[in-house]
Amino acid sequence: MTTEANTGGPPPATSGVLLVLAHPALERSRANRAMAKAAKGLSCVTFRDLYETYPDFAVDIEAEQASLVAHDVIALQFPLYWYSTPALMKEWLDLVWLHGFAYGHDGVALKGKRLFVACTTGASAKAYHAQGYNRFSMDDFLRPLEQTAHLCGMTWETPFVVHGAAVKDDDALKAEAERYKARVASLLPAQQEV
Ligand SMILES: Cc1cc2nc3c(=O)[nH]c(=O)nc-3n(C[C@H](O)[C@H](O)[C@H](O)COP(=O)(O)O)c2cc1C
Repeated sequence: MTTEANTGGPPPATSGVLLVLAHPALERSRANRAMAKAAKGLSCVTFRDLYETYPDFAVDIEAEQASLVAHDVIALQFPLYWYSTPALMKEWLDLVWLHGFAYGHDGVALKGKRLFVACTTGASAKAYHAQGYNRFSMDDFLRPLEQTAHLCGMTWETPFVVHGAAVKDDDALKAEAERYKARVASLLPAQQEV
């Protein structure tokens, strides 16, 4: 485990956005592929494709912790799968965001950072309401991540959600990707942008 947070020395220099993408079939993706392509063009962004990096789910815990420590903003991008993250993003959270690192008495490595979630859904926006067929709002479904941020002393940024991703045409997805890129850039102070 990385121990930067526990040495008592000066905090490490941090900058930029760590954009962590989890999509198990990016070659078939339309929404997340377009969004990632747009956002990773920003110079302030360090891009990590979890399924490409860890096809066997053997997450390098030390490397991932070091990346988290080195960035100001942690962005998690994924398609909503069964009202949650794809499996490898959950595995990454389970293995990397450990007691003593991310939370617990000495676990202050993420404290003060910001957590930003970008998520696409198959269902339309109106499905994500008390009267809609998914019965709960997106805020409700993202609550475990919001509470994770809180537990780790992170600021929870308003999520970026693209609903009805599967039925949007290419122009609409391109517009969403540009909107996403602008949102990611806006997470940083002006001097760190683009
Ligand atoms: C295994 C699986 C589970 C899914 N679960 C949900 C879900 O819970 N809610 C939803 O709105 N869409 C669900 N979808 C649809 C995806 O979220 C949607 O296809 C994706 O966001 C589109 O993005 P992409 O073009 O990047 O693949 C699911 C799709 C798959 C394959």
